[in-house]
Amino acid sequence: MSELNSIAIKILKNGKGILAADESTGTMTKRLDSVSVPSTPKNRLLFRETLFSSSSMKDYIGGVILFDETIKQTTSKKKTIPELISEMGSIPGIKVDTGAKILASSPSEKITEGLDGLRERLKEYYKLGAKFTKWRGVYSITKNYPSKISIHSNAHALARYSALVQECNMVPIVEPEVLMDGDHSAKECSIATSQVIEKCFEELIAHKVNLSGIILKPNMILAGNKSKNKISSEEVAKLTLKCLKSTVPTEVPGIAFLSGGQSEIEATENLNLINKHNSTNFIMSYSYGRALQQSTLKHWSKDINDIEGTQRIFNHRAKMNSLAAQGKWSKDLEI
Ligand code: 13P
Repeated sequence: MSELNSIAIKILKNGKGILAADESTGTMTKRLDSVSVPSTPKNRLLFRETLFSSSSMKDYIGGVILFDETIKQTTSKKKTIPELISEMGSIPGIKVDTGAKILASSPSEKITEGLDGLRERLKEYYKLGAKFTKWRGVYSITKNYPSKISIHSNAHALARYSALVQECNMVPIVEPEVLMDGDHSAKECSIATSQVIEKCFEELIAHKVNLSGIILKPNMILAGNKSKNKISSEEVAKLTLKCLKSTVPTEVPGIAFLSGGQSEIEATENLNLINKHNSTNFIMSYSYGRALQQSTLKHWSKDINDIEGTQRIFNHRAKMNSLAAQGKWSKDLEI
């Protein structure tokens, strides 16, 4: 077993998953604005330090994705954030893309940037303690999209990124996110997601990426958020498994879903059913941002110094998702 493969498995095994706490300062400011907390470096650190020092880090959160600002911050006890995360029993990771920008030739679509100078930035993050990384490509579904240019160029960037990350001895999370915005059907989501994932693996293989040392972070197969034809969680699980079974090479050790705008319960319920029906060898877990933090953020905003109360809410959500990652969750466990 290669070192990268062991790291990927360690992050996801035994019902563990990933906390995506890598919101850029702009996105984090939106999240904090929504609960009327001023977005200062100190408040951003306080919220995140509260989560990273919770008992979930040992029990349910195998890895934490950080943003550039956070990986360089120091805690109230004078530790670096990667030191805190490691001491609590989890593994620190870092988002390394610099965001999705308008795609020339198809200006309604996006291409993710950040390859220039990436090798040097990776070396710096590795020294700071990161063991894995994230890069997110985004695709929208409309009548004409995702276009071939967007599918191809984002896959190419994800592959170049992954090769550089493995060169630096870290595990790349490959995140091609087909967005749920729109009125498309689940079938359209399934077709687009299959095309996108297939192209990603074609490029990853062409770029000689070691597939046993990556984690795939895909969307689930859902109808668009404005669709009138929503499907049941059973259907979501069935379609998601079918799509991944036919597009993901068997060497890939683990799949960690993004939540993508689903509610907390929805994201947990869907993951639970995916695991109940999972007949593949892939570990199927979570790499949630909003679906792990929403209720916690709301609670915290009422008293930002209530560390214990905030951690209680977070620990519950993390535990529910950990049970779901083992197919052992049920609605009556919710509080
Ligand atoms: P969500 O779970 O909120 O979609 O965030 C996951 C993520 O990392 C998006 O890049």
